[in-house]
Amino acid sequence: MDQIMSGKERAINMNKKMHLGWFTEYSPVGWDYSSAATGDWRKPDMFQEMAQICEKGMFDFALYADQLGINSSFNGSIDNYVKYGLNGTMHDSTMLAAMVAAATKHLGVGTTVSTTLTPPYLLARQLASLDHLTSGRVIWNVVTSGNSSSFLNFGIDMPDHDERYEQADEFLELCFKLWSSWEADSLIMDKETGVFADPNKVKPINFEGKYYKSQGPLNVVPLPQGRPTLIQAGQSPRGRDFAAKWADAVIVDAHYLEDMKAYYDDIKKRVVKFGRKPEDLKVFFIIKPVIGQTEELVNASLEALNNPPNSTIHATLSYLSANMDYDLSKFDLDEPVPHIDEKEIKGGQTTLSRFYTSGRRPTLREIAIKEAAGNKGSIIGTPEQVASQMQHIMESVGGDGFVIRVNAHERQYMQEFVETVIPVLQERDLVRKEYTGKTLRENLMEF
Ligand SMILES: Cc1cc2nc3c(=O)[nH]c(=O)nc-3n(C[C@H](O)[C@H](O)[C@H](O)COP(=O)(O)O)c2cc1C
Repeated sequence: MDQIMSGKERAINMNKKMHLGWFTEYSPVGWDYSSAATGDWRKPDMFQEMAQICEKGMFDFALYADQLGINSSFNGSIDNYVKYGLNGTMHDSTMLAAMVAAATKHLGVGTTVSTTLTPPYLLARQLASLDHLTSGRVIWNVVTSGNSSSFLNFGIDMPDHDERYEQADEFLELCFKLWSSWEADSLIMDKETGVFADPNKVKPINFEGKYYKSQGPLNVVPLPQGRPTLIQAGQSPRGRDFAAKWADAVIVDAHYLEDMKAYYDDIKKRVVKFGRKPEDLKVFFIIKPVIGQTEELVNASLEALNNPPNSTIHATLSYLSANMDYDLSKFDLDEPVPHIDEKEIKGGQTTLSRFYTSGRRPTLREIAIKEAAGNKGSIIGTPEQVASQMQHIMESVGGDGFVIRVNAHERQYMQEFVETVIPVLQERDLVRKEYTGKTLRENLMEF
């Protein structure tokens, strides 16, 4: 496993703070870990307890992935996905976000919702309502849905990759109009005069586009955040443009420092192209550091990551197939993957490109091992070393933060991260020590 840097080479001279988030999904993932926390993943408690730990660690947000069907990309069948509880056996992320918000005070709560498979008015209204219920902490992870099983469940044809983003652009334009259809000071609520709101400040939007029509106004009063905080994970050129135009933050699954830097520089340039300031969009890299109090423990973890069982290899290839909506089961495990024509990939077209950095030609098995490690081997060491490596990445790349990708069963891990790594980062003034903003966006834009 490649390491970002040795813990001894402590990076210095960095005064920019980093943001932190927790990324998982409302699904069984992790149910079979030997170290799985006790609890029932179908109930809110495990997620709420994890979120409270994140809040102790002054994280910006918890974000939940989602999709609308069980995949059948690997070997043309849902069997692997059902058997291992992977990719698609997933409950509704918006419901979970609401339950998690009820158990926290400052943490942003993020739901993933598809522009292609959801009516815009309905979604604009749900997110607006949730922004009120959470006092301005709601995040929408905007996805266009890249898995054909979701479309089959809705009985509609799957548009091409780039057309899904054309549609999403219009979807966002419409939602922004609905969220501002009540002016910020339109609500009066004066008991003496009996006036609830100023009708001169609440206007229809009469939107008519290529894909959507909506009269408006929204029947929800102005949102605490003005509009939900938007997160995106576009990796393709079209997806990156979409993120650069609309999003407040992006999450990036990059394995090597050079890829992180390239993504960071590219997306910040695109943000400027859309007339925004580079700091208007925060970049979060997905990580899961291996934390060990001794060298022996660190080496044992690394050994386990480099030699996963066959079931993990299979499960991981099913997961990658699902992300691409492309069957990887047809390739030899111990040969480099042959060239795949981009047009044959209906989902994430750049899913495999992060394994090929600097001319690497990994076999399918090597790809699966790297993916299963989930960036765990890249940051590894004692809490001080982990903090130094995170600092080094931020310093080399330019900012803005990390999302820790662990499932709700990994409570012990999150507790260790928050109790051992966060204090080191706080001591170096690299993360926040208290929440200062009233809303999530204020916290996200604070530094
Ligand atoms: C970290 C991460 C999380 C994602 N979460 C979801 C998700 O919950 N649901 C979903 O349908 N797509 C999800 N995606 C897919 C992205 O929205 C996007 O489609 C993918 O990264 C490919 O980029 P592209 O759309 O620009 O080709 C995720 C991608 C990444 C990298």
